[in-house]
Amino acid sequence: MKADLIVFSGSSHPTLAESITDRLDTALGESSVMKFSNENIMVRLQDNVREKDVFVVQTSSSPVNDSLVELLIFLDAPRYASAARITAVLPYFPYCRSDKKDEPRISIAARLMADLLQTAGAERVLTMDLHSPQIQGFFRIPVDQLLAAPIFFDHFNKVLFKEEPKKDFVLVMGDHGAAKQFAYYFDELELPVAIMDKFRIDHTEKPVIRRVIGDVKGKACLIIDDEIASGGTLVEAANMLKKAGAKRILAAAVHPILSGNAVRKLLDSPIERFILGNTVPVAEKIAGHEDRFHVLDLSPLFAKAIRSIHNGTSLSKLFPPSVRRQA
Ligand code: R5P
Repeated sequence: MKADLIVFSGSSHPTLAESITDRLDTALGESSVMKFSNENIMVRLQDNVREKDVFVVQTSSSPVNDSLVELLIFLDAPRYASAARITAVLPYFPYCRSDKKDEPRISIAARLMADLLQTAGAERVLTMDLHSPQIQGFFRIPVDQLLAAPIFFDHFNKVLFKEEPKKDFVLVMGDHGAAKQFAYYFDELELPVAIMDKFRIDHTEKPVIRRVIGDVKGKACLIIDDEIASGGTLVEAANMLKKAGAKRILAAAVHPILSGNAVRKLLDSPIERFILGNTVPVAEKIAGHEDRFHVLDLSPLFAKAIRSIHNGTSLSKLFPPSVRRQA
C-alpha cells in the first residue's frame, strides 16, 4: 500500500503494541482515551491519519467488556478521520469460546463480535490462534490468523529438547479440540501424541477428564492448549497424567488468560513449567514465579504480518511448513 503505516494501541496491552512498533522501527501513533464520569469513553487520535494505513492493537483482556467498547470506538475514530484502511489487530480474540449455538436460546457472541468490529470500521482483522478457525468465516472482510507455533517450536528446540532428549517427550493435547487445532504439531515436532479425553458437563470451571488416550508412562509430557483460563483443564490433566505414570509434566499455551486464582492453582499442580505466549498482559500475574512461568514474545510475528499486510505480500512464510503445504 502506498499510504503511510501507523499503529495505535488501545489501553489493553500497550507493552505488546510497543514491542510490535519497535520491530517495525516506528513509534506508536499518539492517542488518548478519556473516561467521563458517566463511564462513556472518548478516543482521540492525536496523529493525523488522513489516507494512512491504520492498525489498532487491542487484545481481549480484563476488563474484557471495557476493552471491547474501547476498541470499537478506536476503530470508529480513524474512519471519521479519513484513514485509507483500518485493520483491527486482536492478539486474543474477544468472546472466542462462544463460537456455536450448542445450547438453546444462547447467542453466538463471537459472530456478534465480527459484526460489531465491521460496523465500527475494521476493514481487515489480524489475530492469532483462534479458539476455532470458523470464526474467520463470521466476517465478510479478510481475516489473517497467525499461529504462534514457530516461536514455540523454536523455544522447544533450543531449550526443552536440550535439557532432555527429544525422544523422551510426548505431546499431550489438552482436549479433542486441541488435537485437531494443533495436529500440525505432530508433523513439525515428530513426536508421539496423547489426548486428554475431556468434556464439560456444565459451565463450572471444572472439566471432567475420562482418561488419557495414548502412552505417557515414563515420558516427559508437554501439554498443548490454546489458552489457560481458570487453569481447571491443566490441573485435571496433570493429575491424570501423574496417575498414568508421567515422568515430568510441562504445559504450553498461546493465550495465558489466567483468570481468578489460576496462578495459585497452577503453582500447586504437578506441572513443573508453563510456556506461555504474551497475547494478553501476564507479567504482573506471574511476578515472583518466573522460574515456573516462561513467557515467549510473539511480537515478531505480529510485526512481520503488519509489514506484509501493508506491503501486500504473502504471509505464508510466517506459518510452519506443514501448514503452508495445506494452503
Ligand atoms: C477449551 O476448549 C480450551 O482449549 C482450553 O482447554 C480451555 O479454554 C481452558 O480453560 P480452563 O483453563 O478454564 O480450563
